[in-house]
Amino acid sequence: MLLPLLGGVIGCAPATPPGNIPGSLAAGPAPRRSGEELYNGNCAACHQTAGQGIPGIYPRLAGSPTVLGDPGALARWVIKGQRAATMEAGRYSTAMPKFGWLEPVDAAALFTYLRTHFGNRAPPVDAATVSGALAD
Ligand code: HEC
Repeated sequence: MLLPLLGGVIGCAPATPPGNIPGSLAAGPAPRRSGEELYNGNCAACHQTAGQGIPGIYPRLAGSPTVLGDPGALARWVIKGQRAATMEAGRYSTAMPKFGWLEPVDAAALFTYLRTHFGNRAPPVDAATVSGALAD
């Protein structure tokens, strides 16, 4: 499988230097890449740029209860591959790689992007919430 490998390589080589995200209000270290860049570079190939997915093949993230619900469960799915309660098993014959290389600060930016785009409206996620969820 090429995708997880690709993800790992991209994850080790940030395209932009740290701390140059304009307008970032986050306390603590600024994300190295914006949520949008992370999404388009790692997720959009399957979930599509507008989060609409591909029916029967890749789920939509627009209106997804997993995206809009508990941010801890979202983090455990994307980073550890631990299925969320909102995700019935056996829905898709396709698989998603886990993104274990995502640092909490980047994951927080990515999840905030998912929760505030594609028509989604849910509160932002911070890095502490992501690290806390992974420690469980
Ligand atoms: C290779 C294709 C692929 C890539 C790349 C991918 N996903 Fe997925 N994603 C899937 C598949 C397939 C599922 C359904 C898994 C299942 O139900 O077993 C899924 C499920 C999800 C879900 C749960 C949606 C729901 O409502 O059930 C979320 C959230 C999600 N992915 C986020 C992401 C994020 C964020 C990224 C990028 C960091 C990403 N995915 C990259 C294929 C992919």
